[in-house]
Amino acid sequence: MHFKTIFEPFKIKTVEPIQVSSESERRQYIKDAHYNTFLLDSDKVMIDFLTDSGTSAMSAAQWGAMMQGDESYAGARSWKRMEAAIADLTGFQYILPTHQGRAGERILYSVLGGPGKIFISNTHFDTTRANIEYSGSTAIDIPIQEALDTALEYPFKGNMDIDKLKLLVAKHGAKNIGAVILTVTNNSGGGHR
Ligand SMILES: Cc1ncc(COP(=O)(O)O)c(C=O)c1O
Repeated sequence: MHFKTIFEPFKIKTVEPIQVSSESERRQYIKDAHYNTFLLDSDKVMIDFLTDSGTSAMSAAQWGAMMQGDESYAGARSWKRMEAAIADLTGFQYILPTHQGRAGERILYSVLGGPGKIFISNTHFDTTRANIEYSGSTAIDIPIQEALDTALEYPFKGNMDIDKLKLLVAKHGAKNIGAVILTVTNNSGGGHR
């Protein structure tokens, strides 16, 4: 039987202290950082919303599995299991592990990108745009108009503007389009799905 709880159904085993600051101190910190959250020291941040990447707590099962993991440099059992799970989920034959999204993008766009190529997205995530532009290509954002209205309720605000997409493909020619990328969730576009 499933019960719906109004609290988080787990116990917290580890706590990590945070540096407490006043609102006026935090106003000064962010001003000193030129309003660039990447320039803030972490002890000047009370609640960190900069990223969701690798910041969440791990379960007891995950920590336990780490102890049982096979860390062999090559041919590790743990890798074989992960590869099989990814192949099952995606159907892809070739799987290349990377430790972070941006590292995967660096590899992907060094192959798909290059001078003169155009990439089109609902909104390119910052590291996606950076890797595309670094390869010499151009990244173009075409979110739907509804996505720009933060107060509007709309079923799929993560969509891209299909009319603009057609115009861009006609303008640049299909052979010059490196990829059309739908970022889900659209982090840099308000986190829309
Ligand atoms: C679409 C997209 N690409 C890349 C990244 C970067 O991932 P990482 O922090 O693992 O490099 C993110 C992070 O949220 C993302 O949403």
